[in-house]
Order: sequence, then C-alpha cells, then structure tokens
Amino acid sequence: MVNKILSLGINGIDSFPVFVETDLSRGLPAFDIVGMPDTAVREAKERVRSAYKNSGLSFPVKRITVNLAPANIRKEGSVFDLPILLGILAASESMSINTCNCAFAGELSLIGDIRQITGVLPMILKAREMGIKAIFIPEENSAEAEYIDGIDIYPVKNIVQLLAHLNGSQKIQPLKVKEFQVSVATDFDVDYSEVMGQYAAKRAIEIAAAGGHNILMIGPPGSGKSMLAKRLPTILPPLSFKEAIDCTVIYSVANKLNGKGLVTQRPFRSPHHTVSSVALCGGGQNPRPGEISLAHCGVLFLDEFPEFSAKSIDCMRAPLEDGKITVSRAKGSVTYPSNFMLVCAMNPCKCGYLGHPTRKCTCTQYQIDKYISHISGPMLDRIDIHIDVPAIAYKDISSDKVSESSAQIRKRVIEARRLQYNRYKGTGIYKNSDLTPSLIKKYCILTDDAKDALKNSFDKLNITGRGYTKVLKIARTIADLEKSELITKLHVLEAIQYRSLNKYGNNI
Ligand SMILES: Nc1ncnc2c1ncn2[C@@H]1O[C@H](COP(=O)(O)OP(=O)(O)O)[C@@H](O)[C@H]1O
Ligand SMILES: [Mg+2]
Repeated sequence: MVNKILSLGINGIDSFPVFVETDLSRGLPAFDIVGMPDTAVREAKERVRSAYKNSGLSFPVKRITVNLAPANIRKEGSVFDLPILLGILAASESMSINTCNCAFAGELSLIGDIRQITGVLPMILKAREMGIKAIFIPEENSAEAEYIDGIDIYPVKNIVQLLAHLNGSQKIQPLKVKEFQVSVATDFDVDYSEVMGQYAAKRAIEIAAAGGHNILMIGPPGSGKSMLAKRLPTILPPLSFKEAIDCTVIYSVANKLNGKGLVTQRPFRSPHHTVSSVALCGGGQNPRPGEISLAHCGVLFLDEFPEFSAKSIDCMRAPLEDGKITVSRAKGSVTYPSNFMLVCAMNPCKCGYLGHPTRKCTCTQYQIDKYISHISGPMLDRIDIHIDVPAIAYKDISSDKVSESSAQIRKRVIEARRLQYNRYKGTGIYKNSDLTPSLIKKYCILTDDAKDALKNSFDKLNITGRGYTKVLKIARTIADLEKSELITKLHVLEAIQYRSLNKYGNNI
C-alpha cells in the first residue's frame, strides 16, 4: 500500500512542501529513494533502517520505494529521515499512527534519537501558511520555534516518544507560545562615552544609525575609527518582531543559531578582510547565506576597507541597492535578504598619514592613487555618508570632559526612527535609507532656500544622480533628528558635507 506523509524542504530561506510517498510491495527486499535526493538524503536509508530496528520495530522485508514529491526539485539534507521512517511504518501497517494534517522534519541517529536540523523556523512558517494543524520538530530546535502561534509545534526527542504520541498512548505537550518583548539591550561592555573628541564623526554615526545609512570613515591609524564602529550596536533601535523573525530565519538556514532562540539583538558582523566573496555575499555548492545576509537588519562592519579583495567589494554593489542578493547556481537560483547598514573604515593611504597635521606621508602619488582606486567609484557612490576621522588632539584625548553616553544618543535615534516608522506606515519601508524615488518626492519636501543651496552645490561638487538622492535621504534623517517635517537649508548643507570629502584625491 502507498502512504503519504508531509515534510518540508528548504530552498534559500524559503521552505516548500515535500510529500514523502512510500510504497511497500512484494519482491526481493530493497530500499530505494527517488525524487532528486542529494547524498545526505540517499544516506537516510542506513539511518532509517537502524533507527527503525533500534526503536523496537521490525523492519519490513519487502521492496520499499520512497518518492520525494515534487520530483523536479532537488532535496537536500537529513530532514526527511523522520518522515521516511514514519512512511515505512504506516505503509507496513504494523502500527496505526495518525499523521493526518501533520508535518514532520528531523534527522535520525542510529539508535532512534531525533537530531537537530537547519531551517526549522521557515518550515514552521510554511506549514502554518499551508493551514497545517501540527508540526513535529527535533526537541533541540524548539528554542527558535517558541514565538510562533497559529500552529501546534511538538518538540520530539526520539522515535519511541513520537510513536506513543501518534498512536494515542502518551501525548507530547505542544510548545507554549512565548510573547515577544521589544528589548532595548543595555548590557554592552563598550560605550560612546569612552570615545574622546571626534564630535563630527559621532554626529555622522548618529545620523547613520537614525536613518540606517551606510557610512565610510577615513582617517589615520589610531584615530578611533574601529572604536567608533564597534560601539554602533549600543545606539541602534531595538528589533521589531517581524525583523527578529526575518533575522532568525536566515540564521536558522545558515546553521548559526547554535541552539539559541529568536535573534533579539541587531546583528553586528565584522568579517576579516581576507574573507572570500562567497563567504561575504553567499553561495557555494549548497548555497548558504553570506555575511551580508547574516547582517540583515543590522550592521556589516568592514575594517581596513581597501584590504578586501576588489571582487568581494564589488559583489556587494547590487545587494547594497536592492536589499537582497540572488545567488545563481547550476539548478536555479536562490535569493537571500541583505538589507544591512554598511560601515567601513579605512586609512587615507597605505602609510596612513596622508593629510596628517604633524606626520609626513611617505607614500608616492602612485601608491596613493592605487590604494584609493582599489575601491571603485560606483562602490563609493553607494556609501551615503563619508566622514573624516582626523588624528585626535592631545587636549581632546586628555580632557576630563565626560562625553555623551550611548544611552543618550540612542534615545534620539529611537525617536527619529519612530517618526520614520509612523510616516512610512503602509508603504513597505521603515527607514529613510530605504526611500524609493517616488517616496523621496513625496516625503522630502525642501524649503526654497534649501532648494537653492542644493542647486548651487550640485555642479560645484560634481554630485551624481545617485548622490543627489542620497543627499535628500540624509537631509531627511537630519530633519527627523530635529523633529522637523520640512527640510531646511541647514539640513541640506550638513547632508552635502557628508558627500563631499575630496581632500584625499578625486576618487573620494
Ligand atoms: N578618540 C579616542 N578616544 C579614546 N581613545 C582613543 C581614541 N582614538 C583612539 N583611541 C585609543 O586608541 C586605540 C586604537 O583605536 P582604533 O579605534 O583601533 O583606531 P583606528 O581604527 O582608527 O586605527 C583605541 O583602542 C583607544 O584605546
Ligand atoms: Mg582600526
């Protein structure tokens, strides 16, 4: 007899239904799995056979054919172990189990334990969307499922426990739905009050955080660039529930949750400059999300920016514009979200002292040009805010003055984000950096003298078309920090200043 059990596969960050059809027939004993299985799925045979026997069941001596439908999509990983075992059990009619309107996913150990898998959260979301009543997942994955309502989620330890539930002899308790609390983290061990001076840079970072803008910091070694960037998470607004789910889905398929539940803090990723373009942007034989997707809704910090390979830097161009990356492979393509805030730090030249007030730069003009030209013009154009972080003066670093704390800055950032959130309700965007051309026209209203100021600077500073929209977006954020609906001349002039850092040569 043929039996059909529902399971779920993963493609990119999306899940799709997989029907595990099992047929037992008379003939020479055999066990075949068809329906585009990869190596891990084909190896399920051995795990299922052992788990079956070691759970006190006798494996049917029949010709077993398992089909994973739809047969035209490649199936990956070990998630089908559990539904295959249940399919054989149901088809052999050795035990009556109720699998109606239920979905199953889990890897088996040889002794019948159910092991952790990747991508459980998107599977649950898909099952809920399909109107499935209950889903059975490995107990080790339960942390990431705790906040999902609208579907019964059963955490399972082993086959014996699951069978007792399915034949009605001993029920498993479904997970209790936890309520999501917006958490403003306060337990950082770093703070902006530790950064002395650098008021202009701190102001630019506050604007970047308030509007979600990309930022590039340029300055000599030891001026505090890395220090400023590493403190950025301390002023970012808390994650909303939707953002937390979006982030957790990516971490779940990338196998980066490490048993932890929902991602509740904005991600801060800082890959080393030797990172490959695949690790940075995603891809590979079995595609995995890269650093830019792991930084979704958070920050991607690239320290020593020109040291990254030109290929890595350039592959970020499209995702920086679109907020997502499409990775192509032999059998179709997958798309990962990557709406992150890019923060870069770099020295102005190889020796680091170009433009330094007291030290002499030892680079030749050729070396200077080569260093800067490593970052292409189109890439620089995509970074909203360029800011100079000059060498710190003695009077600033030795000053007793207490700098503003992260908590004070964060208050203003959260307030500005709240304004944006309310203004853009229903448009599908949440922050100024996501503004589309039509929304810019609608929401970036300039006063007359602001328009004049922008017109004067446009030609003088060689601002590009993209640069123009960036200036408007940054000016919008500056006005939001002041709680002003209109964009005034002062806002525009400050915004232009962040696009016109040309003291290090024509490329910037
Ligand atoms: N503005 C500053 N205020 C306080 N300490 C600073 C400042 N700038 C640099 N430092 C000190 O110098 C160290 C190196 O700074 P870092 O941020 O790594 O410089 P950069 O990345 O610009 O080369 C910091 O760990 C800190 O101790
Ligand atoms: Mg540094």
